[in-house]
Amino acid sequence: MLETDRIRLRPWRDDDAETLYKWAKDPDVGPRAGWPPHASVEESLEVIRTVFNDATNTWAIEWKETGEAIGAMGYGPSCDCNLPAREGELITGYWIAKPYWNRGICTEALKLMIEHIKQTTDIKSLISGHFVDNPASGRVMEKCGFKPTGETVIDETQYQGKDRPIRVLRLELMEQKFCQSCGMPLTEEMKGTNADGTKNDDYCIYCYKDGAFTRDCTMEEMIDFCAGFVDEVNKNMPKPMTKEEYKQMMRQWFPLLKRWKQ
Ligand SMILES: CC(C)(COP(=O)(O)OP(=O)(O)OC[C@H]1O[C@@H](n2cnc3c(N)ncnc32)[C@H](O)[C@@H]1OP(=O)(O)O)[C@@H](O)C(=O)NCCC(=O)NCCS
Repeated sequence: MLETDRIRLRPWRDDDAETLYKWAKDPDVGPRAGWPPHASVEESLEVIRTVFNDATNTWAIEWKETGEAIGAMGYGPSCDCNLPAREGELITGYWIAKPYWNRGICTEALKLMIEHIKQTTDIKSLISGHFVDNPASGRVMEKCGFKPTGETVIDETQYQGKDRPIRVLRLELMEQKFCQSCGMPLTEEMKGTNADGTKNDDYCIYCYKDGAFTRDCTMEEMIDFCAGFVDEVNKNMPKPMTKEEYKQMMRQWFPLLKRWKQ
C-alpha cells in the first residue's frame, strides 16, 4: 500500500475534478512546474482523464484526514521534454497544493513512489529538473537522493519556459554505495555525520562522526579490524570466505576507496 500516516498515493478519479481545479487554478502552482493554471473544472477533469489517467505511474496525493487530493506525483517517458535523458529514461514530476507547502509532504510522497519503483520495477534511474527560480523543488529531489548532473537546460515546450533555466537532477536506483573507509554498505541510516550535524555521503557512522574519522589508522589496520566481521559478511555470501580470503579481497578493493586512495 502506497501510504504513510498522513498521505496515500491513489489513482485520480473523475470526482477529484473540483478539488483539482481549486488547487491548480493557483498561479503559484502550475507555472512553477511548467504548466498553465487551470481555467475551469472542465479543464481539470480533462487533465484527470488524459494526463493523470495511468494508475500505474500517476497518483493523487491524498491527505488521509480529509480524503482530499492535495497534489500529484508521477513518472513517465521523458520524450516530450528537453531534459538530457538517457535512452528510455523516465522523468518524475509532482506538485502540492499551496496551503500544504513546506510540511515535508512532497518529500514523503516522492520517497513513497521511489520505494514503490524499487520494489516493483527494474528502472535504473530517474531524471528530473526544476526551474532555477523554484529551488524548493530541487530541495525535495535532493532530500530523496537525486544528485545534480551539472547540466542546465532551457525547455521552451514548458509553460513560461523560454527564459527560465532548468537545473537537471538524476536519481540512480541501482547504485549500491559503500563506506569509503571500511567498505560496508552505506544506507541512509548508516551515514556518518559532518561537523554541522548533516549526513556525510561517503563514510559510515562507525568510521566518521561530527566531521572527523573515529579512529586514526592505516589501511592495513582497517583491514585487520574489518576481518573480525567475516562471519557477518559470510551471511550474505553464496560461498563463505576464510578470514585470510576476506583480507585478500579487501587488499584489492580498499586502495580504490576515497580514504585510502593515493
Ligand atoms: C515544490 C513543491 C512540490 C514542494 O512541496 P512541499 O511539500 O512543500 O515540499 P517539502 O515540504 O517536502 O520540501 C520543501 C523544501 O524546500 C525548501 N524550500 C521552500 N522554499 C524554498 C526556497 N524559496 N528556497 C530554498 N528552499 C526552499 C523547504 O525548506 C524544504 O526543505 P527542508 O526540508 O530542507 O527545509 C511545492 O512547493 C509545489 O508544488 N510547488 C509548485 C509546483 C512545483 O514546483 N512542482 C515541481 C516542479 S519541478
